[in-house]
Amino acid sequence: MSRDSYSKSEAYIVEHFAHEDNVMKTVAERLRQDGKYGINVSPVEGKLLQWIVGLVAPKLIVEIGTLYGYSTLWMARALAPDAKIISCEFDPKHAEIAREHVRMAGLSDRVEIKQGDAKVTIKNLNVTPDVVFIDADKPSYKNYLEWAMSAVRVGGIIIGDNTFLFGHLIGEDRGERTSAAAVASMSAFNETLAQSKNFRSTMIPTYEGMTVAQRLY
Ligand code: SAH
Ligand code: DHB
Ligand code: MG
Repeated sequence: MSRDSYSKSEAYIVEHFAHEDNVMKTVAERLRQDGKYGINVSPVEGKLLQWIVGLVAPKLIVEIGTLYGYSTLWMARALAPDAKIISCEFDPKHAEIAREHVRMAGLSDRVEIKQGDAKVTIKNLNVTPDVVFIDADKPSYKNYLEWAMSAVRVGGIIIGDNTFLFGHLIGEDRGERTSAAAVASMSAFNETLAQSKNFRSTMIPTYEGMTVAQRLY
């Protein structure tokens, strides 16, 4: 979960820059109703994703972890008319709700939600994405990264959310349990990108941590 209260800097950004459109507001409300608000990216992170994505004029974004489509909508608002998002979601109920939100936003022709284990979905996707956004099950991040590093185009971008692993990688106890597998996977995720000569990488110090990497070769 992310914090339930905004810092002053976040509140400023939300007030001035990170405005949700009406469908995003609807999605946020549904997440709140279902006790899932905070699993989605925050408005500040959503606008940041949109801004980063816009830099590379993507034809194809692959998102791993859809939930109700909140981050999907933020990124979709940076798409040219002929561009597309493929978003992978394991939970059939989440996938169905996200599709409903995508329809409400009039984006059904540009956002495809593939239901199933993303580890399987991506193996069968024969694509060269411009952006890969990783935000699903934390123990699988290293698997998702392995695919993303080979699939993303040169000049393209890989983004990972929650890369402080709820504070566990920075020695901060936020009262959230995790597993040794998640710690190993997330450490490997960050370390692999940090060490790779093929990528220029860093972290944006959001509360949850957002690792960003651009493929150079
Ligand atoms: N990106 C979303 C939040 C995603 S939450 C947003 O910011 O709005 C993580 C999602 O990943 C959950 O919906 C969960 O069901 C899904 N998930 C978990 N394991 C998965 C897997 N193996 N393959 C695909 N999706 C998975
Ligand atoms: C959780 C997952 C996320 O991707 C996130 O950003 C916050 C919380 C979770 O599983 O609790
Ligand atoms: Mg996340």
